[in-house]
Amino acid sequence: MTVAPANGPRLLQITDTHLFADPAAEHAGVIPEARLQAVIAALQPWLESAEAIVHTGDLVHDGTLAAYRRLRDRLNALDRPGRVMPGNHDAREPLESVFAAGAFSTDRTLRVGDWTLISLDSLQVGEVPGRLSADELAALDRALAGLATPWCLIALHHPPLPVGTPWLDAIGLAEPDALLERVAADPRIRGLVCGHVHTPFNGRWHDRRMLTTPATAAQFLAGARRFTSVSAAPGFRWLDLRADGGIDTDVVRVPMD
Ligand SMILES: [Fe+2]
Repeated sequence: MTVAPANGPRLLQITDTHLFADPAAEHAGVIPEARLQAVIAALQPWLESAEAIVHTGDLVHDGTLAAYRRLRDRLNALDRPGRVMPGNHDAREPLESVFAAGAFSTDRTLRVGDWTLISLDSLQVGEVPGRLSADELAALDRALAGLATPWCLIALHHPPLPVGTPWLDAIGLAEPDALLERVAADPRIRGLVCGHVHTPFNGRWHDRRMLTTPATAAQFLAGARRFTSVSAAPGFRWLDLRADGGIDTDVVRVPMD
């Protein structure tokens, strides 16, 4: 696997690890633990050129402390600062307790060179679609008001814009306008990076990047009208955050034997 030369501080994204307390458990025809281990192995040559890592939610599938702790240990072993945020399958309390401190945490912001990564929590308890509470939006406003870098990238689990897969677009971020209005109004916000859809998407909205990334766990069929998993390889994304506010990025697939 060839590592692209870095063009600016490099951020790596993994998403939708969907771990269970039982490392042998299956979900949608795959063993999430085995796939995560394969992705982590494939990440190794990329870590040398990476400054930070973001996990955009659905950390675990069963909400157990055991699964969160195992994921935390695997992520902290990558030896880079990282951020995590909940997805719809997560349980906020155990997630926040396990990731309260350490290299990987739920802290709101992470400086990556001339950029700031801002994490948002879009989990609505008991619901599949996401929503940003008034408190989350206020926290975003505070992070933007205190921004110490020229550029920023927002990370959240649920995409606020359609990605072209109807059943997933129906369960994305509900009432996304409050977020999108802020994005449109602030030229420092250069993009949004999300999980949830288990499939890659690379689009633009108001000259901002709108990115989603394959899960490390099961893969979904892009364009499907109803839930359809496919036997595609898991993957991750690299993002080079350029000094001019641009983002060079691509997805790397990790073939399973
Ligand atoms: Fe997921």
